[in-house]
Amino acid sequence: MHDRFLRACRREPVDTTPVWFMRQAGRYMAEYRKLREGRTLLELCKTPELAVEVTLQPLRLGMDAAILFADILLPLEPMGAPFEFAKGEGPVVHEPVRDRQGIDKLRVCDPEDGLGYVLQAIRLLRKELDGKTPLIGFAGAPFTIASYLIEGGKSSSYARTKALMWSDPESWHLLMGKIAEVVRRYLRAQIEAGAQAVQLFDSWIGSLSPHDYRTYVMPHVRHVLSDIGTMGVPVIHFGTGTATLLDLQKEAGGTVIGLDWRMPIGPTWDRLGSGVAIQGNLDPLLLCAPREVMLARVRAVLDEVGNRPGHIFNVGHGIVPETPVDNVKAAIDCVHEHAARSRE
Ligand code: CP3
Repeated sequence: MHDRFLRACRREPVDTTPVWFMRQAGRYMAEYRKLREGRTLLELCKTPELAVEVTLQPLRLGMDAAILFADILLPLEPMGAPFEFAKGEGPVVHEPVRDRQGIDKLRVCDPEDGLGYVLQAIRLLRKELDGKTPLIGFAGAPFTIASYLIEGGKSSSYARTKALMWSDPESWHLLMGKIAEVVRRYLRAQIEAGAQAVQLFDSWIGSLSPHDYRTYVMPHVRHVLSDIGTMGVPVIHFGTGTATLLDLQKEAGGTVIGLDWRMPIGPTWDRLGSGVAIQGNLDPLLLCAPREVMLARVRAVLDEVGNRPGHIFNVGHGIVPETPVDNVKAAIDCVHEHAARSRE
């Protein structure tokens, strides 16, 4: 078993630093674009055989983990808030939820009804991958999912989300509680179906102050992670723009904390303490930079980490579609070689 990813999550000794990349399957790869042609993203996600194929595509580049091909917004549909990925716009929720009436109507669904295709993809993937590469499952965290549900799509200010949070805290907590319970059941079901680690994506949490995170978000993340944390698989807790939130994020749960590139990995790890593993944190746009510039920065991340146990190399946020595939391969090889050499 190729298990250096799982070993690093548990802060056990490894032969070299494991690496995988958020959005490692996607538009930067020709194979993905070909399979996507004439199909929507949702069709790919909802057809287990296709989701399996896409999940496996990037592994030829040498990643140490596979991440299930799906999307954090999939639970919205069975909750009663259908959406689509509109060309060039990203996700569009047809009827955004902005008041108590809308929140009351949302269903706290079980993953078996409405998300069974994800669980089926996991079962198929475990058969394909067994003995080779570990499989990561994932879900969106309550705040990040709520932001799409309330805004109706991507937002830069989260104005409506914050308006609801501050003007009607009771409804806000009802909404967050419903999403958190769906996410808890969904992650549980993914692990039961065979996911060997899970990542909770709280991508947009960096828009909040520590006070608001603690008051309006943290109890709901804790609801998810205190339960999932008992299942014996590594839990990666990821956010971006989290420099002021990391201590609270760590308190909320997770055995691995995911960092973006805005924070220096060494001092940030010192601040969080040795009791946690760290994933990160190359700026994903460096994968589009001149090769030597990129490689120097890959080595700089590894050198900053030094011999601390529990590092999983990753980008600080998803790979962008413009990324040259060769650079991804070169980055992976560089991580493996440089980190192995530093261990000699
Ligand atoms: O990492 C992986 O390889 C697994 C697959 C994965 C996708 N989405 C597929 C996808 C994962 C882990 C996600 C998570 C996700 N989805 C997040 C959290 C991570 C992050 O990026 O912050 C968020 C916020 C979403 C919501 C989402 N999905 C947006 C905003 C968009 C449109 C933006 C864009 O890049 O076009 C998507 C679409 C999406 N999800 C794509 C992929 C590969 C784009 C590809 C396509 O349209 O074919």
